[in-house]
Amino acid sequence: DEESGGGEEYLFKIVIIGDSAVGKSNLLSRYARNEFNMHSKATIGVEFQTQVLEIDGKEVKAQIWDTAGQERFRAVTSAYYRGAVGALVVYDISRRSTFDSITRWLEELNTHSDTTVARMLVGNKCDLDNIRAVSIEEGTSLAEAEGLFFMETSALDSTNVKKAFEIVIREIY
Ligand code: GTP
Ligand code: MG
Repeated sequence: DEESGGGEEYLFKIVIIGDSAVGKSNLLSRYARNEFNMHSKATIGVEFQTQVLEIDGKEVKAQIWDTAGQERFRAVTSAYYRGAVGALVVYDISRRSTFDSITRWLEELNTHSDTTVARMLVGNKCDLDNIRAVSIEEGTSLAEAEGLFFMETSALDSTNVKKAFEIVIREIY
């Protein structure tokens, strides 16, 4: 358009949700800054990063929001979800309880956003295959049942991190 001097611009809000310590903040820092922190602290409140991509010659800005998995550190729920058009719903493949929580996270997402939100189920920490507690098949079938994309990722070794975000962003676009 005129303001940007050619090429339309798009701004998409994407939220990351899931239990504490599943690796939400590290997925975001890996994607946005190519950084990983082995000793990251629990998130308090909300943080976000903006990532600019080019899709079909158009500039797309993804504003990715990250909040605490722990209830006592969480931001105001309705504000967190407001305007979101994409969501990554994350569990840790080495901790069963985080997979069991996915249903609850999806319920919250559905309560606070509409069904058109592009949703990706993410099984993070796939580098920990030797202590895996959730099989790939379980992830796949939950995603199928709930109508979500699915991907296993590792913020530690970068496996599928870019892919997971960009599938969601492209789906929105
Ligand atoms: P909250 O902010 O409390 O909700 O946690 P979070 O989901 O943001 O988790 P965070 O990114 O802080 O990561 C928690 C711990 O898991 C940290 O020690 C990370 O280094 C580790 N971690 C994150 N991603 C991975 C991964 O892909 N593989 C392995 N092995 N460890 C990871
Ligand atoms: Mg965090």
